[in-house]
Parts: sequence; structure tokens; C-alpha cells
Amino acid sequence: MSNETSNSKLIIFDTTLRDGEQSPGASMTMDEKVRIAKALEKMRVDIIEAGFPIASQGDFESVKAVASVIKNSTVCGLARALEKDISRAGEALKPAESSRIHTFIATSPIHMKMKLRMQPDDVLAQAVDAVKMARQFTDNVEFSPEDAGRSELDFLCRIIEAVIDAGATTINIPDTVGYNIPHQFGELIKNLIERIPNSDKAIFSVHCHNDLGLAVGNSLASILNGARQVECTINGLGERAGNASLEEIVMAVRTRQDVFACDSDLDTTQIVPCSKLVSGITGFPVQPNKAIVGANAFAHESGIHQDGILKSRETYEIMRAQDVGWSDNRMVLGKHSGRNAFKSRLQELNVEFSSEQELNETFTRFKELADKKHEIFDDDLIALVADANWSTENEHYKLVSLRVCSETGETPMASLVLEVGGKEVSANASGGGPVDASFRAIESIVNSETQLQLYSVNNITSGTDAQGEVTVRLEKAGRIISGQGADTDIVIASTNAYINALNKLEKTDNREHPQLGDV
Ligand code: KIV
Ligand code: ZN
Repeated sequence: MSNETSNSKLIIFDTTLRDGEQSPGASMTMDEKVRIAKALEKMRVDIIEAGFPIASQGDFESVKAVASVIKNSTVCGLARALEKDISRAGEALKPAESSRIHTFIATSPIHMKMKLRMQPDDVLAQAVDAVKMARQFTDNVEFSPEDAGRSELDFLCRIIEAVIDAGATTINIPDTVGYNIPHQFGELIKNLIERIPNSDKAIFSVHCHNDLGLAVGNSLASILNGARQVECTINGLGERAGNASLEEIVMAVRTRQDVFACDSDLDTTQIVPCSKLVSGITGFPVQPNKAIVGANAFAHESGIHQDGILKSRETYEIMRAQDVGWSDNRMVLGKHSGRNAFKSRLQELNVEFSSEQELNETFTRFKELADKKHEIFDDDLIALVADANWSTENEHYKLVSLRVCSETGETPMASLVLEVGGKEVSANASGGGPVDASFRAIESIVNSETQLQLYSVNNITSGTDAQGEVTVRLEKAGRIISGQGADTDIVIASTNAYINALNKLEKTDNREHPQLGDV
């Protein structure tokens, strides 16, 4: 038995770049997806679902780009059970060292009748054809009966047996609408494995949504009943209430080895850096009390707990913060720190630069920040690197200069110079406050026809000289895009976040949703 199929190995299938990205406002550019994919590879995720290649040219290019750079994880592309989807996925995955096609069709009575308008036997035949077609591109084929959590057991057994015979090597059971309860979902997995005669020829996987807050519970119940792959996302990102959270599943299994008969190969010290990367790129903040990756997850505020922890850590801690990648965010650098100190601290934080020029530019920005802010913490450095990456996205629109005037009893004013496609344009505007005035000045130039859906500011560290990290979410004709910016001056951070969102709008395209399209 290879390690991949050994019964004690839990395969981690990350779908942050596909199902996570389906979350409104979480769309990512190709560069951002490649950065996240590299972080997932470094964490030793087994399979990275990089996207839905038929959805748009941008999705196709992103899957191809991820397939070209990732060497140690399998790269997967999603396809409906349609020839055009499968051949597009096969094409996008060509550069991959190891590839998988994930094809799916709905199997619940309500989906077959209302969405597909198909008879169960026709659904079964289409699933079998799809798997056979996918096998022409790769011998690693996953099949999902969509909405399995509300499908009839007999039909599930029939269709799964048929797709395994047709060559599916992984059978993924999705709780698409997050309807299931752990003991019941675990029982479903057990029944499927026991009843399907050729179930030993495939790995059983689960894919749980969090509508009732049970995605992780359902995933864990499935593992206890024989599932050996889990599909999950960083920070539980995903449509509606999200997908099962990777970090919670991985750490539950790792921490409770007395309960689980398997474990993942994950390097858990990469969890927090990866969580920060995804949250920074998507603009979806992590709630402070979120397990594993929330800012308070390892904070022991109450006196009695602190006393216990000092006497013996195990009194109140079941995991070690450093095992999931928390650093102590110590003050590391200041105005007089040199380029080498800067570079080596970033290396310790797993940040890599693709060129000397990138390192030099980021170092210049660090010096600028150190002039404004006395003490530079790890989180400042991470934001600085993220900000440098956001700035490289800012190709079409660039902030050249900004002047705001805010005075008691006076209307706030903003004067701004923007570079638009290489040409400088200036504008003045007034507003309810300096941020509002700046956004209005931008709009008087760009006229983007977007609606502002969300504006939020978070301080990266404490103190009034802390950097503010701003997220702006814009909507245009049903498309929702988030932009980010960070600066010690929150008006500048806000303006950069707005410009970042406008640039992303230019760079990402309209795409088809896999679960609402045609079949
Ligand atoms: O939730 C779901 O059913 C999916 C499928 C495409 C696997 O995301
Ligand atoms: Zn899903």
C-alpha cells in the first residue's frame, strides 16, 4: 500500500482557491492564487483544488499557473460532468507534475428534479461517461455526488459503484448545503463503505459546509467511520457559512491521536502564516476567538488560568501555540536595523522574495515605516510584505499623492493625484470625513459604477502609531471584489485599499458558478 492509500494516512484536500473563492468578495488574482498555493505546498497539503477552469479565462489561467509551479502537491481542477468542462480542466492541468480532475453531478431528488431536470438513470449514465472522459487526461479522478447529504442511500450506492467501475479513484461525499448532523453523516459514510461492493478500490472523502456550524464535526465523524480524505479551506473560508476549516480538522486529529486511527502529513507550524496570508489577500478577517488561528486562541486572560499555565502548561493548554505557527510577535526591528536583520527575520517568518529587487523595494518601505513607527513587530512585517504585493497589483490605477484637510467646523476635503494607465490625473472632492472625501475624489476620476459594500479598519498592533489595515469591498453588476491597504495613516491605507479593489476589478473576470450552471 502506498502512503497515499495507507489506512493510517489522512489526505488533506484544500479547496480555498476553488470553493473558498466562491465566497462573494473573496475573488483572488492569479498572482494571489499562486502565492496561496505555494504556502499550501509548503504546509504539505496533499491536494490543492486550484479552481474551476471552464468558469472563465482567468480561472483557466490561474489553474494552469498553479499547475506549473507546484511540485510537491497534486493540483486539482473542478469540472461538471460535461465534456467541455473536463477537457478544459485537462488542458489547464497539463503542466502539473501530479494532477487530478474532480468531476461532479447532483444526486439528491430535489437537485435532480429542480436543477438538472433529469431522471436518476440519466444522471448515473452521465457520471460514468464523465469519469471515463476524465481518465483520458489523468489516472487520478475524483467523483462527487453533489448534495449527497440529502441523497437517497440506494441511489448513492448505485452511482458510486458505477463510477468506481468507470475509474474514479476518490469518492467525495459532499454535504453541499450543510444539512447533516455528525452521527448521521458518519453513519452515511460507514454504510456507503460497507454496502458498495467495490468501495475498497477508492478512497472515501468528505466535503462539508458549515450552515449549521457542523462542518468540522461532520468531517471528524466521517473520519471515525472510514473517510480518509477531507476537503477543507483555510480559516473555513467559503460560500454562506463557509467550508470545514482545515486548521480545526488537522489539529483535532493531531491532538486526539487516542481517538483517531489516522493522521495527516501536515507541517502544522505553517498554519498561522497561511491563515494570515489568506485573510490578508481576501480581506476576510479571522474572528479573535476562532479556534487555532484566532488572535485569542492561545491567550490566557483570566488570573487563575495564567497561574495554572505558569505552574504547568498542560493545566489549561491542549496544544502549543508554536506548534501551529504562532510566534510571540516580539518587537524585532527598528529604525537602525540593517538589510540583513530585516531579511533574516522575514526568512524566519517564511517570507521569500522572488528577486533582489523585490527585497530591496520592501526594505525601502520598511525604512519608511520605521521612520513613522518606533517599534516594528512581526505582524507589521507581514503586513508590509502583503502591502508590497497589493501594490504590485496596482497596475492600472496608482496613487501618486493625497492631501486631506480635516478641521473642526469645516467640510473635509481631499486633493488627489492618480495615475491612470500611466497618465496622471488630479481631482478634489469634499465628503463626510477625510476617507469619504478621498473615495469621492477617486470616483470623480474613475467613475467605476461600483457600490461600496464594506469598509473596515483593523489595527495590526496596539498603540496609536500602529498600522491600520483597511478592507474595502466593492460590488459591480453582481461581482464583489475586496481590496486591502495598510499604513500608519489610515486615510492613506483606506485610499490604497480602494484603489487595490478597483485594480482587482480590472484584473479578474466574470465567471460561471460551478453549481448554478448548465448540465
Ligand atoms: O459543496 C459541494 O457540493 C461542492 C461540490 C462541487 C463538491 O463544492
Ligand atoms: Zn462545496
